[in-house]
Amino acid sequence: MTPSADLPPPPEDGHRALRDNPVETSPDPEPTTAFTGYPDAPAFSIVSRQDDLSHYPCANCHANMPANTERRKLNAPHPAALDHGDGRMWCFDCHNEEERNKLATASGERVGFDYGDQVCSQCHYAVHRDWTFGVHGKRKARWQGERTSYSCAHCHNPHDPAVRPREPEQPPGVRAGLEPMPDKHVEHPRIYPWQPAHEEDDDDQNSE
Ligand code: HEC
Ligand code: HEC
Ligand code: HEC
Ligand code: HEC
Repeated sequence: MTPSADLPPPPEDGHRALRDNPVETSPDPEPTTAFTGYPDAPAFSIVSRQDDLSHYPCANCHANMPANTERRKLNAPHPAALDHGDGRMWCFDCHNEEERNKLATASGERVGFDYGDQVCSQCHYAVHRDWTFGVHGKRKARWQGERTSYSCAHCHNPHDPAVRPREPEQPPGVRAGLEPMPDKHVEHPRIYPWQPAHEEDDDDQNSE
């Protein structure tokens, strides 16, 4: 990489003030232009991710490193494991190779980190549609104010996204001074005609 190649030639006296250096700009749109949204989808904004990333700006290190496209076990500062899609994915399926500060779509379009949902949507389109309409995920400040939704990466680590099953917590204890509820057998109403009228005490294994 030769960052100085794009600089204008120095002035006659050989000195150029720092402020005259060209400002680095990105011509790329933050959200993709390929995806224009769903018809009838309500307008909403997304809680930012970029400022929360500990390694951003990536260019701090990567501007001076040639991209290495070889699949390999990475050393620090990056996590060694990528547990997404059964080993079929690699970094550049989602990260832009040349401009490390951006994510990438399969067609090579650059996407800002605040629009990571558009990267996920390429494969998880049904979940993304649910999320857009407010069925999957969560909105900020509950139902107050304009709708602002948490992004996919607020809940899923893109490098290991599966939500693991969890052990249920113990029920809360009985408040001091109160008797525990008597262990009553509750007869549930029959929902389906083929259900036996009284099922054996399957639920009561924990009693006593
Ligand atoms: C503190 C320096 C540093 C920062 C900041 C950093 N990286 Fe890296 N990155 C590295 C180093 C060093 C390697 C090479 C590791 C190796 O080869 O084992 C690497 C490798 C990678 C690779 C593997 C491909 C390649 O070109 O080697 C990807 C993808 C990557 N980084 C993405 C990112 C992204 C995305 C960010 C920002 C969110 C980021 N990095 C921020 C130092 C950094
Ligand atoms: C499935 C898509 C996907 C793949 C594959 C992927 N990433 Fe990421 N990566 C993301 C997204 C999306 C974010 C933004 C996460 C967020 O908002 O918290 C991210 C964030 C990062 C960050 C910044 C984390 C931080 O908190 O600073 C680094 C570094 C990074 N990726 C490196 C890599 C490396 C290295 C690989 C390959 C081994 C890789 N990624 C593979 C989607 C991906
Ligand atoms: C290139 C396609 C692709 C992209 C892009 C992608 N995923 Fe995935 N994802 C997969 C595949 C394949 C699996 C594994 C599915 C399986 O094994 O059933 C998976 C698995 C998952 C799972 C676990 C599903 C489960 O049943 O437990 C979650 C959650 C997930 N991805 C979230 C994300 C998020 C969030 C993003 C964006 C940061 C993303 N994915 C981007 C292909 C993709
Ligand atoms: C507020 C947190 C939250 C947000 C935001 C969120 N998810 Fe999820 N997601 C979950 C939880 C929790 C589960 C597990 C649900 C379960 O197991 O029934 C899940 C399950 C999934 C699954 C696997 C189950 C399935 O239905 O296929 C995928 C894939 C997935 N999410 C992708 C995404 C994508 C893509 C986005 C962004 C467009 C996103 N999620 C946003 C919390 C979230």
